[in-house]
Amino acid sequence: MVVPRLFLAPVLLLAWSAGAQFRFANYYGDHMVLQKEPSCAVLWGYGTPGANITVTVSLEQNFTMKEIAEVRADSKWKVILRPIAPGGPYRIEARQCYEQEVSNVTLNDVYFGDVWLCSGQSNMEMTVSQIFNASQELAEAKQYPLVRVFAAGLVESDAELEELGAIDLPWSVPTAENLGHGDFRYFSAVCWLFGRHLFDALQHPIGLIDSTWGGTPIEAWSSNRVLHECGLSKDTQRNLSLVPNGGPKSPSVLWNAMIHPFADMTLRGAIWYQGEENTHMNTDLYNCTFPTLIEDWRRTFHEGSMRQTQLYFPFGFVQLCTNHHIAPDDNFARIRWHQTADFGYAPNKKMPNTFMAVTIDLGDNSSPYGSIHPRDKQSVAYRLYLGALAVAYGKKSLVFQGPYPQTVEVNAQLGLIKVTYNEPIELRQLNDNIFEVCCSDQPVCKWSPVSMKVSMYYSVFLLNTVCPKTVGGLRYAWMEWPCEYMLCPLYNVQNLPAPPFITFAKDNPAWIIW
Ligand SMILES: *[C@@H]1O[C@H](CO)[C@@H](O)[C@H](O)[C@H]1NC(C)=O
Ligand SMILES: *[C@@H]1O[C@H](CO)[C@@H](O)[C@H](O)[C@H]1NC(C)=O
Ligand SMILES: *[C@@H]1O[C@H](CO)[C@@H](O)[C@H](O)[C@H]1NC(C)=O
Ligand SMILES: *[C@@H]1O[C@H](CO)[C@@H](O)[C@H](O)[C@H]1NC(C)=O
Ligand SMILES: *[C@@H]1O[C@H](CO)[C@@H](O)[C@H](O)[C@H]1NC(C)=O
Ligand SMILES: *[C@@H]1O[C@H](CO)[C@@H](O)[C@H](O)[C@H]1NC(C)=O
Repeated sequence: MVVPRLFLAPVLLLAWSAGAQFRFANYYGDHMVLQKEPSCAVLWGYGTPGANITVTVSLEQNFTMKEIAEVRADSKWKVILRPIAPGGPYRIEARQCYEQEVSNVTLNDVYFGDVWLCSGQSNMEMTVSQIFNASQELAEAKQYPLVRVFAAGLVESDAELEELGAIDLPWSVPTAENLGHGDFRYFSAVCWLFGRHLFDALQHPIGLIDSTWGGTPIEAWSSNRVLHECGLSKDTQRNLSLVPNGGPKSPSVLWNAMIHPFADMTLRGAIWYQGEENTHMNTDLYNCTFPTLIEDWRRTFHEGSMRQTQLYFPFGFVQLCTNHHIAPDDNFARIRWHQTADFGYAPNKKMPNTFMAVTIDLGDNSSPYGSIHPRDKQSVAYRLYLGALAVAYGKKSLVFQGPYPQTVEVNAQLGLIKVTYNEPIELRQLNDNIFEVCCSDQPVCKWSPVSMKVSMYYSVFLLNTVCPKTVGGLRYAWMEWPCEYMLCPLYNVQNLPAPPFITFAKDNPAWIIW
């Protein structure tokens, strides 16, 4: 797929910020959602250095608040509003006074609510018109006038941009047309469905920002700090990459142009669906790049918004789905594992305040967009939404994760392995291939399938006839396509699948030998 793109040289950027035209930064617009209380929304723009700025917020004709600022020498001005309760529509006027000259700009039909950023590659980019039940989902758009949508344009840059180089969809009230604009453009189905669930649950306005680009690796969305932290300085990165002069696959170019610009506004959280491209690029660095990217986005957004975006803002992500039934390698499995910083679940010690949608059971071999683009985005968004409720919105007792093993007990005499999970198991089928044992404690295992025999409440029993006495490791769903649609062996009663895991006797204190 050839996608038109815009490349912004840093020179052009300088020319922009020197321009004294009085305005808001280009991603502020009519119909937008600004972050509600308890955070303060940040507004910024450009003007004449030294000029006085007054920002007035009013609800209908009623005056609500006024904030003042001065335009800095670099032509930027910025104000932090006081916390505003969810609701609207507000009118926000910014006025610049420079000596006798007065100019003003206005944002109309603005709501305060929660603003979420949605990013990643093509599975986040896939639009509402491409998914199952598309016409029904599109027809329902008009029932959600307070879920507002915005899509960044595809732009790459070698330097960090202050504002966006292009906008595909300015802030809009959702319609069947703008949600189903075209294949892989706007609007992101996962982002939309996630926002819709949030609206249904929270009953306040939701702002959704779609900033995605298909076929791009995590390195493109990472600042130089992340690359450096993971041993990928710009030079080594270009060498490791399979794509010389990789356009949007080049290190940092999308961070620079499509993420960094949002650092100065206030956000509630982010969701991310990416990793497919890294199944053939720097795969075993993903356990560094991903957690480090999260940390780096958090720090940058927190500082950029003058601490209004929370430092540990909630970050949700989608664990990779499936592509081929038969794969020559375990690259998908490794990325899935590395997406959790090798813990197997989220949140975890290295990835606080994150949540994960497991999707190994949502494969779609007959997708017209290729099996890498499964069409059940409803389940993806719903699982993300459960995570957001629990992690971002404090529903502590909500079950939002599938069952995860707590102990592995090996009975060498009987060749039995008992895997005990942290939640009651709902067994959907017995499977003779999905659990595998490593028959030694050597670093390089030969993995052999063991059959599932029975499950009882929290436990699953496996029969290991291959190496009953020397089993050194156990893994589950460690393959590109572990199970058919909604038919993994293990779920919990909430219908959430057990995520893949891998564990070794030598470094698992909960590995018990009878
Ligand atoms: C605006 O003010 C008027 C008069 O004080 C009041 O009747 C009205 O309810 C206010 N509107 C809002 C949206 O607060
Ligand atoms: C900004 O406002 C102050 C205080 O009202 C005033 O003294 C100053 O001249 C104004 N600056 C400009 C550039 O208009
Ligand atoms: C804002 O500017 C417009 C012209 O651009 C003008 O008609 C309007 O009166 C101004 N509003 C205020 C409140 O100054
Ligand atoms: C990257 O590749 C170039 C050309 O193949 C080589 O000269 C350079 O030393 C490599 N850099 C690193 C850090 O490996
Ligand atoms: C990431 O995974 C690779 C391969 O399993 C491992 O060698 C490396 O130590 C891991 N790195 C981190 C930071 O956990
Ligand atoms: C599509 O709609 C049908 C009928 O409402 C429903 O049973 C099915 O679950 C929907 N599919 C998805 C993926 O949501």
